[in-house]
Amino acid sequence: MNYQKKSVEHVPVAGKRVLLRCDFNVPLDKKTGKIMDNTRISASLPTIRYLLQNGAAVIACSHLGRPKGEWNPALSLAPVAALLSELLGQPVKMAKDVIGPDAMALAAQLKPGEIMLLENLRYHKEEEKNDPQFAKTLADMADLFVSDAFGTCHRAHASTVGVAAYLPAVCGFLLNRELEVMGNVLTNPKHPFIAVLGGAKVSDKIGVIRNLLEKADTILVGGGMAYTFLKAQGGEIGASLCEPDKLDYAKEILALAAEKNTPLLLPIDTVAAAAFSPDAEPVLVPSRSIPTDLMGMDIGPETIKSFQSVLRTAGAVVWNGPMGVFEFPAFSTGTRSIAETMAQSSAVTIVGGGDSAAAVDQLGLADKMTHISTGGGASLEFLEGIELPGIACLQD
Ligand code: 3PG
Repeated sequence: MNYQKKSVEHVPVAGKRVLLRCDFNVPLDKKTGKIMDNTRISASLPTIRYLLQNGAAVIACSHLGRPKGEWNPALSLAPVAALLSELLGQPVKMAKDVIGPDAMALAAQLKPGEIMLLENLRYHKEEEKNDPQFAKTLADMADLFVSDAFGTCHRAHASTVGVAAYLPAVCGFLLNRELEVMGNVLTNPKHPFIAVLGGAKVSDKIGVIRNLLEKADTILVGGGMAYTFLKAQGGEIGASLCEPDKLDYAKEILALAAEKNTPLLLPIDTVAAAAFSPDAEPVLVPSRSIPTDLMGMDIGPETIKSFQSVLRTAGAVVWNGPMGVFEFPAFSTGTRSIAETMAQSSAVTIVGGGDSAAAVDQLGLADKMTHISTGGGASLEFLEGIELPGIACLQD
């Protein structure tokens, strides 16, 4: 995969109408509809500011949630326009539709230095189908396509891929940075390169583990997925999470790691509990002999120590997936310790999106990391080494 793409800085933007694909798919409070985390909106600001200051008229667009072609007011991007306007310190004109008369009229009147936002792209089923006519209608509003939606680059949709057939297509600063930092760690990492993988399921990480086994010097495995590996080694994992249909895969990975001489470290001790509850009493047990009535909820202190000693030697670290049930304070120590050790490290530290990014953010350690990816599924696919369609379609 080519990680070096033309960016907004490589093309003239003055006087151009720019269709800017952002990933404004932000979490909303179910009751109030309030935006719960504005990271993705703030991360889009440098590209937007650059375009506006350099005389472009910006037609921003995004999806929000999964309305599946239905017009769902609860998933309107209007609150995003309001917040974006506040952050930018200038009006963001909110269109009442996506490619309808209101959007068309607003786009036609838009002047250099002004910005508008289209309604939720997924109100049209043609978006996810990458319908060429829908893509062309979007593209016809603009002279240039800028993609800054890293979080959606794994989707071959009309606004992420289709429009590039009709417009010159380049990346924004957010996407460029993701490509630079994450691309670099996959192609030319500082050694020792350590991958820390966690999260609930092995099945979510199959491609990532396989790809990182080719590149990392050591792999540290925690979280729910560790128990399938422990069981594959003959361990007693009690009532812990296990994917029986992935046991053979886990064995295969363990054999591959041994063959490559790449240490793949599993938990030695586990903080377990009798129930999946924040109030459950934590019980420290050996990871390979968890009593039948207990389930693993976090990595234990000995595991933390051993993972930390590996991390302290690192030249580069990629982390994806919490080490335990981070949302329950009694079972958050493992995840917190990994985040703190990475934050103190002088290594290149990359947090690959999703729950681990949320954890780092909650801990107030975000600015201590080299890079926190704005992608969830996209980061995972990127780390799998897969060519993402929303990146492949941009100019080299
Ligand atoms: C995400 O949040 O991972 C992206 O915005 C993509 O959303 P999707 O999984 O609904 O395509």
